[in-house]
Amino acid sequence: MAAPEETAPKAYKQRGGTGGEAMPLRSIQADDQVYTSSGSAELDRVLGGGIVEGALMLVGGDPGIGKSTLLLQVCDHLCRMGKRVLYVSGEESARQIRLRAQRLGAHQSDLLVLTENAMDQVEAKLQAVQPEFCVIDSIQTMYRPEMGSAPGSVSQVRECASILMRYAKTTGCAVFLVGHVTKEGSLAGPRVLEHMVDVVMYFEGDHTHEYRLLRAVKNRFGSVNELGIFEMTGTGMRAVEGASETLLSQRAKGASGSCVFCGMEGSRPMLVDIQALVTQSFLQVPRRTVDGMDSSRVMLLLAVMEKRARLKMYCRDAYINVAGGLSLSEPAADLALCMAVASSYVDRPVPGDWAVMGEVGLAGEVRSISQLERRAMECRRLGFTHILCPRDSVRHVKAPEGIILHGVDTVAQAMAVLDLMPSS
Ligand code: TYD
Ligand code: MG
Repeated sequence: MAAPEETAPKAYKQRGGTGGEAMPLRSIQADDQVYTSSGSAELDRVLGGGIVEGALMLVGGDPGIGKSTLLLQVCDHLCRMGKRVLYVSGEESARQIRLRAQRLGAHQSDLLVLTENAMDQVEAKLQAVQPEFCVIDSIQTMYRPEMGSAPGSVSQVRECASILMRYAKTTGCAVFLVGHVTKEGSLAGPRVLEHMVDVVMYFEGDHTHEYRLLRAVKNRFGSVNELGIFEMTGTGMRAVEGASETLLSQRAKGASGSCVFCGMEGSRPMLVDIQALVTQSFLQVPRRTVDGMDSSRVMLLLAVMEKRARLKMYCRDAYINVAGGLSLSEPAADLALCMAVASSYVDRPVPGDWAVMGEVGLAGEVRSISQLERRAMECRRLGFTHILCPRDSVRHVKAPEGIILHGVDTVAQAMAVLDLMPSS
């Protein structure tokens, strides 16, 4: 039931709408989408090419992950390009914002700053200033006093976001909403806005991770799952170039329990190091901890290794980690995980110039994966020479020069190829 004080959303005429008429699709004019660069190639990639006029974009993530910093850098860039930009902060004082901007070397611009929590004041200022770009930092601090509920409550967050949506859609101003997410994925947080906005981007992980990973989980203007990699430096967020190089840079070569996998993060292939530590367990129920992969998927794969590859996991603890803080969701990472586990189990390394990819089924079968060719190209670029992959994929793919594809049908075969079979 809607709270009684919640006002019904007002109808509005959207720019580029059909003006209240039903129009035949073929008579609708559509120019190519115009993207304005945010000044950061990584952010542009996540946005699907850049900022679109009238877009409402949500940037979510843990407190302290770098949302305000990144957006202040974007504002600075847009101002330098001669755009009219308004930065609304409900969290920090003007002085704090100025100090942060100084740190970023972004304090000499004409960026308009407004510190305000009351939504009607923000709306009035938007009407007066008519910015082309606007940042609301954060949506949880905005409120309409007449609604009675506290700032950050579901009804306030929704109402304020719908006011901003109306503003964006009628004026063409592109609006970034900052939203904090707590570990519990708080209800009043950005999740309640996902259906309203055009683009949803989340910073993955927390600020203890080395890299700040920004992923688009919804994008009406581009493909989802695009990943931007940043690093927090003394002077703001810096894009990390050469994702694969960076993610592999600290790999302990020659150590057991490490296996390189090439994932597709959106449209970009990316090499990551999947790590496993398998040790004898002294507990009734062996311990399993997983970071960077879906833990139920990992449990399933450990069971497959137990049953199909005869690894005695029932009396072993297993710790799984994806180096660099990346979260992998592709089943194509299964085989690499299994090989990392097997490698730690027998305490023999996977050879340093091998990369592994393939989905693993419950029968221990290795299933085909998509885009093997692109993944193989990336492996070659990073100096890998052998790829262990599903036999099925090998039939359809021509190996790039300098790469040898080794097709396998089962996890047991894969272990045999890499010499990771336990002796007993
Ligand atoms: P911030 O952008 O305020 O995070 P959010 O808006 O997501 O809550 O980032 C704050 C952290 O980043 C804080 O711990 C200080 C650090 N930081 C830097 O390391 N370098 C910088 O240049 C800036 C501005 C912040
Ligand atoms: Mg902030």
